[in-house]
Amino acid sequence: MIRSLRGMNDTLEQEDSARFSYFIQTATRIAKNYGFRFIETPQLEETALFKRSVGESSDIVGKEMYQFIDKGENDVCLRPEGTAGVVRAFVQNKYDRQDQIHRLFYHGTMFRYERPQKGRLRQFHQFGCESFGEASVLEDASLILMVRDIFNALGINFELKLNSLGDTNCMPQYRETLIKFLHSNEEHICEDCMRRKNTNPIRVLDCKNSHCQVIYADAPKLMQNLCAGCDTDFKALTDILKEHGMAYEIDPHLVRGLDYYSKTAFEFISTEIGAQSAIAGGGRYDRLVEFLEGRPTPAIGFAIGVERLMELIKMPSPVREGYYFGAMDENAISKVYKLGMRKRTSDIVTIGYKARNLKAHLKAADKANARYCAILGENELNRGTVWLKDLENKTESEPPQDEI
Ligand code: HAM
Repeated sequence: MIRSLRGMNDTLEQEDSARFSYFIQTATRIAKNYGFRFIETPQLEETALFKRSVGESSDIVGKEMYQFIDKGENDVCLRPEGTAGVVRAFVQNKYDRQDQIHRLFYHGTMFRYERPQKGRLRQFHQFGCESFGEASVLEDASLILMVRDIFNALGINFELKLNSLGDTNCMPQYRETLIKFLHSNEEHICEDCMRRKNTNPIRVLDCKNSHCQVIYADAPKLMQNLCAGCDTDFKALTDILKEHGMAYEIDPHLVRGLDYYSKTAFEFISTEIGAQSAIAGGGRYDRLVEFLEGRPTPAIGFAIGVERLMELIKMPSPVREGYYFGAMDENAISKVYKLGMRKRTSDIVTIGYKARNLKAHLKAADKANARYCAILGENELNRGTVWLKDLENKTESEPPQDEI
């Protein structure tokens, strides 16, 4: 038997796909309320896009890309995340020259060749939002509050972790301070951190090695090395969040796994799903549009990992919808089929193709979650009517066939 690849799952009908659709519908509705519009970008892009944006020193680009040379000798890669493609589309379509705010949302599959475990897949879905052209921290707050609204609507408990990664004024100086600290602790840090020290030193701060964690507890803190502008913005952001009743924890080691961030960085964590606890992550990336050859454009976004939410979503009880059509007599099948097909132009319709007794049809209608069960037997055929049961109100009627 051919099986799916490791870390790549089916979203099966019934429970899984109902949850998945409910999540997408809810997140879409809320993103639209915040002024975001849908964008779709390809799943396959030039590898250079991710190298330049997510960064060569990141684990995603360094270890986890589904990269290959295609038949036209192009170096391509299945997207490991959504932001880079959206920024590419933004620049390619000259949105950066329009001098207006663009708020875009997307959802789709992402691919990372990671070691699969609970909550960590090689193919997974993200729902993401990217906002371009707005430097105000009110936008940072709006995006964070939007994620809150989405999780609240789905009945998901969360914690918010927040940090500022500084900007071009304060980050270079902080880097130097951190590199000095790492030099003086060289013999105690792990191999990965030794490598990161030379490529992207701030990434050492979220190293999972327990010895490194102990050492970095004494590392100089980004938050205490922010320039006046970043410091003021970060305080303004936390004030807005407080005003809106949004609890947060400042995590000085939250540096995110992608290289394009500056200033605000955030993650939403669930304490109910085990080790892979990040259910959403995002932040500002004010320089990325420029890195991809667009006009300098402030930007901020986030992505929610859909699979990690699946077991947390509290679904509303299913409402009965549409019709079930069934025949109790062989002679009634073609009429039932005709009536069902007509009704399909306006409603959800399931049609039973075999003549069965009433009990069997009522059971099938219930299974299909239909609101109405419409049955034709010999009597109804002769009278030109339909026996109709409202499965919610438990009432019965016999309308003419033309009226159904
Ligand atoms: P990220 O933190 O790499 O950020 O991913 C966002 C979310 O995707 C994570 O919080 C997690 O829920 C989910 N996720 C990541 N990897 C996996 C995996 N292997 N299996 C299952 N779920 C996973 C980004 O991707 C950025 N593009 C977010 C962003 C948008 N920043 C600005 N705009």
